[in-house]
Amino acid sequence: MNKVRHLAIIMDGNGRWAKSKGRTRSFGHKQGLKNLDKIIRVLIKNNIKYLTLYTFSYDNWKRPKKEITNIFILLENYLKKNFNDLKKKNINVSFIGENNKLPQSIRKLIKLYNNNKFNKSKLRINVAFNYSSKKEIMNAIRLLFREKKKINEVNFVKSLYTRNFPDPDLLIRTGGRKRLSDFLLWQISYTELYFIDKLWPEFNENDLVKVLKNFKLIKRNYGK
Ligand code: IPE
Ligand code: IPE
Ligand code: MG
Repeated sequence: MNKVRHLAIIMDGNGRWAKSKGRTRSFGHKQGLKNLDKIIRVLIKNNIKYLTLYTFSYDNWKRPKKEITNIFILLENYLKKNFNDLKKKNINVSFIGENNKLPQSIRKLIKLYNNNKFNKSKLRINVAFNYSSKKEIMNAIRLLFREKKKINEVNFVKSLYTRNFPDPDLLIRTGGRKRLSDFLLWQISYTELYFIDKLWPEFNENDLVKVLKNFKLIKRNYGK
């Protein structure tokens, strides 16, 4: 039976969920963030060690300024409020993505979290924030050249933002769209993909448990 080490999630559908309730998109993002706690509990219960969350893509800068500011405020508050609690629960949070364009206050928090490594974490969460897979790949290539490293797979993987994480075993995208939107393009070569119609704020524990059960029974070939 397959074991999940690393789950990646594209948490899509906050805006449509809010619209269906006659609320603002920002309300949708708030609800989406709240939904995370339940998901984290299921992961810990199932002994899954790595989680990558797509929370803001590099292309999300194309959205209205008001929505972007709102997402940033939500993240900032969450990070400030939960630092001690996450530490107590042995949940290690780090960030991947581009550092430019982000407000100073968020950069400071990202630094604080990224520097706060501890060995015995129950769960390691990588937050893909201001993230672009294509930019990550370009950046890795530039790094290899700058450090005059040999161009091979091992060195390349070591130059990616995800260097400390194994490749995802499964990827869930909620919100009904069957696309990757510039997320972990290299890392998901052999990942099992689950595209779920439910919008992120209504994706619940049972939905996740169902995916995990299904995943366990899949035969993974890796070309064999
Ligand atoms: C995903 O939900 C969250 C972010 C991209 C920040 P969306 O905001 O994309 O919601 P929909 O897809 O418009 O419903
Ligand atoms: C992908 O969702 C990014 C996140 C969930 C953070 P989008 O809603 O931005 O993706 P597209 O634009 O529909 O491809
Ligand atoms: Mg979307």
